[in-house]
Amino acid sequence: MRCGYFDDSKREYIIINPITPVKWINYIGSIEFGGFVDHTGGALICRGDPALNRLTKYIPQLPDSSMKGETLYLRFIEDESFKIFSPFYTPTLDPYDRYECHVGLSYTRILSEFYGIKTDVTIFVPFGSHRVIRSIKITNISDRIVTIDVIPVVEYTHFDALKQFTNADWIPQTMQSKIFNEEKGLKILTQFAFMNKDIKINYFTSNFPISSFESDRRNFLSNYGYGSWIRPLSLLKEGLSNTEAQRGDNIAVLMHHLGKLKPGETRRVVTQLGQAESVEKALPEIQRYRKEREVDSALDDIIKFWDEYLSRMQVETPDELMNSMLNIHNPRQCYITKNWSRYLSLYQLGLGDREMGFRDSSQDVMGILMSRPYEGKTFITKLLHIQKRDGCAMHQFNPLSMGANEGDLREKEDSPNYYSDDHLWVVLSTVSYLKETDDLDFLNENIPFYDRDSRGNSLDSGTVLEHLMRAIEFTHSHTGDHGLPLLGFADWNDTVNLNFGAESLFVANLYGLTLREMMDLMEHMGDQETLERYREYYEEMKKCFNQCSWDGKWFIRYFDCDGLPIGSHTNTEGSIYANAQSWSVISGFAPPDRAKTALDSVHYYLTTKNGIKLCWPGYNRYNPEIGGVTTYPPGAKENGGIFLHTNPWMMMAEAMLGNGNRAFQYYNQINPATKNDLIEEYECEPYCYAQNILGDEHTQFGLARNSWLSGTASWVYQAGTKYILGIMPTFKGLQIDPCIPHYWEGFRVKRWFRNAMYDIKVKNPTKICKGINTITLDGSEIEGNIIPIFNDEKKHIVIVLMG
Ligand code: GLC
Repeated sequence: MRCGYFDDSKREYIIINPITPVKWINYIGSIEFGGFVDHTGGALICRGDPALNRLTKYIPQLPDSSMKGETLYLRFIEDESFKIFSPFYTPTLDPYDRYECHVGLSYTRILSEFYGIKTDVTIFVPFGSHRVIRSIKITNISDRIVTIDVIPVVEYTHFDALKQFTNADWIPQTMQSKIFNEEKGLKILTQFAFMNKDIKINYFTSNFPISSFESDRRNFLSNYGYGSWIRPLSLLKEGLSNTEAQRGDNIAVLMHHLGKLKPGETRRVVTQLGQAESVEKALPEIQRYRKEREVDSALDDIIKFWDEYLSRMQVETPDELMNSMLNIHNPRQCYITKNWSRYLSLYQLGLGDREMGFRDSSQDVMGILMSRPYEGKTFITKLLHIQKRDGCAMHQFNPLSMGANEGDLREKEDSPNYYSDDHLWVVLSTVSYLKETDDLDFLNENIPFYDRDSRGNSLDSGTVLEHLMRAIEFTHSHTGDHGLPLLGFADWNDTVNLNFGAESLFVANLYGLTLREMMDLMEHMGDQETLERYREYYEEMKKCFNQCSWDGKWFIRYFDCDGLPIGSHTNTEGSIYANAQSWSVISGFAPPDRAKTALDSVHYYLTTKNGIKLCWPGYNRYNPEIGGVTTYPPGAKENGGIFLHTNPWMMMAEAMLGNGNRAFQYYNQINPATKNDLIEEYECEPYCYAQNILGDEHTQFGLARNSWLSGTASWVYQAGTKYILGIMPTFKGLQIDPCIPHYWEGFRVKRWFRNAMYDIKVKNPTKICKGINTITLDGSEIEGNIIPIFNDEKKHIVIVLMG
């Protein structure tokens, strides 16, 4: 079964069957103002903090046929009564002649045909604006004259999204609506919470005369609310009640009489759902976006933004689905995850229990550094504000208030009081930023550490370089009995929480890679002394690691507080963990023979056709000694599920060993575009990565969940571009070292790097996976595989002959 197809020429995915197994969504606007729109027109919109300033009531747990946040009704007269339907399919579920939801970059366009009426709605948030635009074009495609009414609907939530669900007394008493009448029948229907009245209002308006309106849900559905969204009884009457709600469940419904449309005739209504301090303050912008040409040009601006964003790298490989992902959907998802972190999706409900993850954001930002390096720098600067003076970091933070918290540390009183990996990721992203830009001045910027005195004054600050060095020193000085990094509360795997004294072999390797990156930086800066120190740290950790980590066929994942291994053949459950294998290669710690054996074991024990499982076999019962991982059934999430974030690390490890066939197999088996024909099994959007797929120990093997906001986006993008295609920024220039399937005849990449365009054609005449015979640059052969930095705004032709 498939529900749609990719249209790369328009950079859209087009859904043609509204009955997708779960809602498929798209992001509009930014965390400043925006949210997501589902493919049947429902929308969850927030301004700033999704927990404290939410506009629409989108309840993902309601059945998919329900009204969620926003919808649109049309009606016309048939047999002397009103025929009502929604051109979005839900909530009226009428039979459609055509249904298309175009999932575009920062806009969604829903195009449908019902009863001889074509509706074409484009939904987006203009840049820098606090409003959702819905541009609604209605065309009479029948051969008779039809009188059409257009009735857009918004259902509000209280600003405080959690309270909306927990206090059913206070909330309805505070919600109110008020109408503002303007000239020529235009109206602005506002909505506010009584106590917030002077601070902010939501409003819903359009550029078309409004004959009547409704703001009370009970009136709209009628029969004291026993009417339904499928057939709101008030729509059977000529006009709406013009009620200004004084309490209750507030909605906004605007009745537009388009009048008589001749066959072929089109009319357009543009609605705005926005938020402002007052109607007076909002008015100039409302008037601006009532002009169709302003609306069109705001949409053009969005298209231009993405033109520019995506033009930083374009690839042509023999694999069409890889091209779709690397050219469009994957970089786009990287930007979304960097901006929205884990705040708001169908799965992350943004209700305040979770802020931005320090480790998540440090990894997400790596996915945007090529396209938006300076935005990346601003973001990394924020992250460094959350680092503590001892070098480790707070676990979560709020990017608006810049407050931070310790994540789950609070849950276990006597638990180790830090996460052992957070601070190392930000070193990787900072060095990655420097390799992309060579903006070494950044290293001298002074940034306070998070620690404050009782008055809120910062207790310490340091340059960016000091921040990075303290991160290294933290891990260096927090080691256990084997000389390996202590696990703390958890490492990347949040759900394995061992008692104090446990050690993490994953962090040993993450530290190894971090040291290598810092060594590159020290070499570039000419700081020989620090370079030598880090080399010693590296060799020291490598030695400790290799003394105790080998289990025979793979690497161990943890030592618990008694020094017993986890992720070993001696464990009956959780015997082998994927990250222990991939990262031992990525760090450079694994000797070649063990590296190969470990990756072969992954291929044998952990690889499935839908991706690589995180561990095997799954834990079968709750075990408080191990932690959260044992709360999932085997095959789900961290407990032997296919946790997609980790799959690109295996692609990278295989590529480092020269195994292009496997690297690509691993790329391909999780590419969501390859699931397009398997949607009944996979269920989630085929145009973005999910966080997890159920593993083969689960009866629903292959089922994806938690799409969109996942670190998978950033890492697959890096694995695909830097390791498989092998185009890697370095301090010396752009390194080219592809590792591709042997049967590829070659590929082409156009990439901007340091203000020059590198047009790279790779040819693979002898059908190998890795290895370069010659490279010519602008017609002359060069030594080595690093193309120099030009900084000349020009295009340079690079021909790479593998061999
Ligand atoms: C979730 C968390 C991430 C963690 C991962 C594995 O994706 O957001 O921080 O690394 O789970 O536990």
